[in-house]
Amino acid sequence: MSYLLEYPVRIVSQAVISAVCVCAFSLAADDVSSLRKTERSSKRPLAIDLRIDRSVEIPPPRTQYMGRKIAQTMHYTGAPWLVRESRQREEDCRLLLEALQIQPGQTICDLGCGNGFYTLELARRVGTEGIVYAVDIQPQMLRLLVARARQEKIFNIKPVLGTFIDPRLPKEEVDLVFCVDVYHEFSHPEKMLKCIRESLSDGGQIVLAEFRGEDASVPIKPLHKMTKAQVKKELEPNGFVLEREFDELPWQHLMFFGVQSKE
Ligand SMILES: C[S@@+](CC[C@H](N)C(=O)[O-])C[C@H]1O[C@@H](n2cnc3c(N)ncnc32)[C@H](O)[C@@H]1O
Repeated sequence: MSYLLEYPVRIVSQAVISAVCVCAFSLAADDVSSLRKTERSSKRPLAIDLRIDRSVEIPPPRTQYMGRKIAQTMHYTGAPWLVRESRQREEDCRLLLEALQIQPGQTICDLGCGNGFYTLELARRVGTEGIVYAVDIQPQMLRLLVARARQEKIFNIKPVLGTFIDPRLPKEEVDLVFCVDVYHEFSHPEKMLKCIRESLSDGGQIVLAEFRGEDASVPIKPLHKMTKAQVKKELEPNGFVLEREFDELPWQHLMFFGVQSKE
């Protein structure tokens, strides 16, 4: 059961990430040109927003941040693991969703959404008056998500191709930025956190679900876990303040942060 100790496919090494950072925009450009015209139309429901600004330079990725080694990006070929049958039993995903206390009409971002395991349920919960931005840096993940959403006939989702430094969210509009098992993969945490801060509405929050680094019984490799102390150490100097914690999940911390007041 090695997948319990490691994601099944962690094949994007830091070296590859560096290369990807350099080539990210050209890869995305290739991807755009390979998409059918209909998929590119912004009027089409669930059309993937691929309009990244290719003139923006992406700095080299960090390998460490505040004493923590940054994990590799989970490759899209590992996506089936995210929708594995045992996930509910192992992570109690329904309880996690309940703990978010989502209200109909909210604007939510599923950041690092992968193939949309949580996105679809978030979209159901915000209802037709609400919207879920589904952001990932891998267009292949977004395509998998779109296929699942079409099958379920869920259309209040905006899939967005993000970059390593920018999730490309609207400013001051998002009520909750939801990051499940993603933050520890950010290769440019400060830049991502700055954009997230700017995207939050008045009273908006970022919530991190990370495998518990303090708990040796959680069968995930240490590189893919975080302690509460480390999460706080990284988020507080980036302008966030811990507002709520939910400690009832089998494997993960759930930590809600608001924006620190500027006074
Ligand atoms: C372990 S998967 C988790 C997927 C999903 N949150 C879930 O729980 O099913 C991590 C995802 O985060 C994405 N990711 C990593 N860094 C990112 C970044 N800077 N911006 C957006 N997505 C990112 C990866 O491409 C991958 O799809």
